Amino acid sequence: MKVLITGGTGFLGSRLCERLVRAGHDLCVLTRNPLARIGQAGVQFLSWDGQEWEHALAEAQAVINLAGEPIAEGRWTAAQKARIRESRVHATRQLVGRMASRLEKPAVLINASAIGYYGPCGEEEVTEADPPGHGFLAETCRAWEAEAQRAEDLGVRVVRLRLGVVLGPSGGALAKMVPPFVLFLGGPIGSGRQWVSWIHREDVVGMIEWALSHPQVSGAVNVTAPHPVTMREFCETLGRVLGRPSWLPVPAWALRLWLGEMAQVLVTGQRVIPHAATRGQYAFIYPDLQAALEAALASYSARVLPDDSQATQSRG
Ligand SMILES: NC(=O)c1ccc[n+]([C@@H]2O[C@H](COP(=O)([O-])OP(=O)(O)OC[C@H]3O[C@@H](n4cnc5c(N)ncnc54)[C@H](OP(=O)(O)O)[C@@H]3O)[C@@H](O)[C@H]2O)c1
Repeated sequence: MKVLITGGTGFLGSRLCERLVRAGHDLCVLTRNPLARIGQAGVQFLSWDGQEWEHALAEAQAVINLAGEPIAEGRWTAAQKARIRESRVHATRQLVGRMASRLEKPAVLINASAIGYYGPCGEEEVTEADPPGHGFLAETCRAWEAEAQRAEDLGVRVVRLRLGVVLGPSGGALAKMVPPFVLFLGGPIGSGRQWVSWIHREDVVGMIEWALSHPQVSGAVNVTAPHPVTMREFCETLGRVLGRPSWLPVPAWALRLWLGEMAQVLVTGQRVIPHAATRGQYAFIYPDLQAALEAALASYSARVLPDDSQATQSRG
């Protein structure tokens, strides 16, 4: 299948590309910097500038849209918030606008979104049927999904992936959470009672492949593991896997001082249930947190941790 991907150079996209190439798909990645990627095997890299990508879009049977300014880099100044929102809304609008002006349409648009869509939810379980919440991220996700949804009027199947906290090697949330643990300074963030709806990166890719190959999958899909945990449990499991204590809590007020409004994402959470995936019989590779963390951190541990903590890991 010919697949056009935006954000294919990122933490999720680069792994997605590896797996799709291995599965025999023909990939074209839209990037802001195609020159930096010359020579990478199996994928054609095209710039958003120019018209070449529009031809690629016309030939694509599927479009996967992951592009967006990183959410957790730096304080949310007004300018950064505008970049976070506009990069997503604008890229999606451009893609769907070009689909509208072409006779040939892809069969499916798989568009990233996030569980931030639901806003802070406390103890309550949320599924795809729940309405959007309040706050900057919820508003951004709602606008992002609305742009993607317009493709449905063109006869394109639209899948909106509401991604949880993605765990994987060298990147994502773990790249920020692991270093304090390695230095014996790890512990739960905020009260520790907020819910963390996590997912292993291999399952993100697995669910994208599942959505590609199952024409009955459409609409919102929570991309989270079936067992969300509290922040306290998450950090205790992370400590166990790394052979380190989880003892030094980071108080919410300190995070607010350090990160400003962005701290809200860490001190509140969502208890998300992946109804669409379980109903559609997606088979999770990592349904449980400890195995997911062990897999995500295997290469990191081998490089950074001394032998005794790796022994703790292999004892599980
Ligand atoms: N990782 C997670 O835990 C997580 C959780 C929830 C939602 N998501 C969403 O899933 C998507 C992929 O996540 P990721 O972790 O792979 O993100 P990532 O590593 O930050 O990659 C995002 C990609 O978007 C492009 N990009 C970055 N800034 C941009 C801008 N200002 N304008 C246009 N394009 C820009 C970049 O591609 P080029 O440099 O090649 O243009 C980059 O490779 C993101 O939209 C993210 O919000 C991720």
